[in-house]
Amino acid sequence: MSIVVTGATGQLGRLVVDALLAGGSAVPAESVVAVVRDKEKAADLAERGVELRIADYSRPETLAEAFEAGDRVLLISGSEVGRRVAQHAAVIDAAKAAGVAQLAYTGVLGGDEADFDLAAEHKETERLILGSGLPYTLLRNGWYTENYTANLAPVLAHGAVVANAGEGRIASASRADYAAAAAAVLTGPAEEHLNKAYELSGDTAWSLAEYAAEVAAQTGREITYSNVPAEAHLAILTGAGVPEAFAEILVDVDRAVEQGALAVRTGDLARLIGRPTTPIAVTIKEALNGS
Ligand SMILES: NC(=O)c1ccc[n+]([C@@H]2O[C@H](COP(=O)([O-])OP(=O)(O)OC[C@H]3O[C@@H](n4cnc5c(N)ncnc54)[C@H](OP(=O)(O)O)[C@@H]3O)[C@@H](O)[C@H]2O)c1
Repeated sequence: MSIVVTGATGQLGRLVVDALLAGGSAVPAESVVAVVRDKEKAADLAERGVELRIADYSRPETLAEAFEAGDRVLLISGSEVGRRVAQHAAVIDAAKAAGVAQLAYTGVLGGDEADFDLAAEHKETERLILGSGLPYTLLRNGWYTENYTANLAPVLAHGAVVANAGEGRIASASRADYAAAAAAVLTGPAEEHLNKAYELSGDTAWSLAEYAAEVAAQTGREITYSNVPAEAHLAILTGAGVPEAFAEILVDVDRAVEQGALAVRTGDLARLIGRPTTPIAVTIKEALNGS
């Protein structure tokens, strides 16, 4: 029996492996398996003693060897929007064929109630997991604070956070917080976490005006929040080179933020990780320091 992390060369996946090896769970490296599609990219994981299994969500035949009976598996949702239901279905089929003991999945806050475009593939994946009969744990992740701090350069260049989210609030947490939660459900007593859905989000919900004010305070610059109509935001994003389809997704996410879809706070994340979630001020500071 191993703890298996797919998407292990991604940003979240690497943090999950870190949390497994070094966190409170401290799993021996030989019990951790990284499912990756690019062996070279995972060389550092192999050096740490983690077993690599090479598989691509888009090539079902490569998934046949990805899992073994009794494995506790984390399926990290893919990044290719529009292709993910078929990809995740292939992973679920492979997990079922192997007879894994737990399939955890990184979905989206709100689960089947989430009504924004980006949620559709997660909802369908959850439906497939439930239909598979596998013992599951749904990790319905809220927003990463890093979704915002990764875009600090244009904010600093223009002195503005531009969005169409109105006064909507976002209960984000750091990627490392969500990774620690995933490690907790993969290593904790299975009976505690099986066939459960966790709504994971930060302890504090903040508005983009508050975010702008925090960036201003930390940089000593004037940074304002510019709330614009959805069409204007779409034009700004595409004008800045964001592909139209992705820009539409971002505008739709802001619409969901304005309606409160990402402000939900249940306390599940802090409970799973046994500490408060990371405040946005900390993640902003790390981004400004380049760490
Ligand atoms: N909650 C949020 O705020 C939020 C924000 C953005 C994304 N997400 C979702 O959460 C996931 C993890 O986030 P992240 O920041 O770690 O994203 P990321 O850095 O883009 O990582 C995505 C991972 O999925 C792997 N992957 C993609 N397509 C694959 C395929 N066809 N076969 C095998 N592996 C594949 C990637 O492999 P490679 O390393 O080989 O590229 C990578 O390891 C994302 O993929 C997305 O579904 C959530």
